[in-house]
Amino acid sequence: MRIEVANDPQAVAILVADWLVTAVETAVHARGRFVLGLAGGSTPRLLYQTLARPAYATRLPWHAMHLLWGDERFVPQDHADSNYRMVADALIKHVPVPRANVHPIPTDGTPVDAASRYESILRNLYGSSILDPARPLFDVILLGLGTDGHTASLFPGTAAMSERIAWATAVEGVTAQPRLTLTFPAIACSRTVAFIVTGADKRQIFRYVRANGSGLPATHVTSAGQIVWYADSAAAQ
Ligand code: 6PG
Repeated sequence: MRIEVANDPQAVAILVADWLVTAVETAVHARGRFVLGLAGGSTPRLLYQTLARPAYATRLPWHAMHLLWGDERFVPQDHADSNYRMVADALIKHVPVPRANVHPIPTDGTPVDAASRYESILRNLYGSSILDPARPLFDVILLGLGTDGHTASLFPGTAAMSERIAWATAVEGVTAQPRLTLTFPAIACSRTVAFIVTGADKRQIFRYVRANGSGLPATHVTSAGQIVWYADSAAAQ
């Protein structure tokens, strides 16, 4: 389990941003594009704000980058709880990423239909309806960690935990709003999964994860490549 620790949340954001710049350069040089799965919640906001700073934004080939989301709350894109809005405010509005390269999770219609439409978006970007770990869909997927061990919107005890066919699915009845999430097979079709965990409130769950906390959604995550955990001192103690 590869863990990188930095002093505080801003230091973690800089650590991840520096690593991402290199990952993007490598991917674009090798394959002409970089496909990034974005984490929701509050933790990654600092990273997105850091990437929007000129010191980073000017080094990234935004025209060759595709932004997707790991999960979404089933609310309008201008809703305060929207992961799309969080990323748009922190990053997208401040960088020249082509709108055609930004692929929000649909949040209209019904959750089940929206998940199906997101899967079509993923398949279209991937160019196949069959996930092949030898040809990862994502270059990097960023994920957070909930205090119950959930990640994306893969919550313990939900049907999403056992979904092995669909690439995206709806999760209803667990949180205030229905959620849409990538499934484990879609997350696994990645070159790198990078968890970002900061704050003392994550100390206990992160300690359990490091002790090989089986049964948690976060520890159920696999990747065709590597999994790396970026944490601050408060979470990693
Ligand atoms: C979401 C996220 C979710 C998040 C964890 C941690 O939509 O909320 O995808 O999985 O990463 O709940 O949330 P915080 O970063 O706010 O602690």
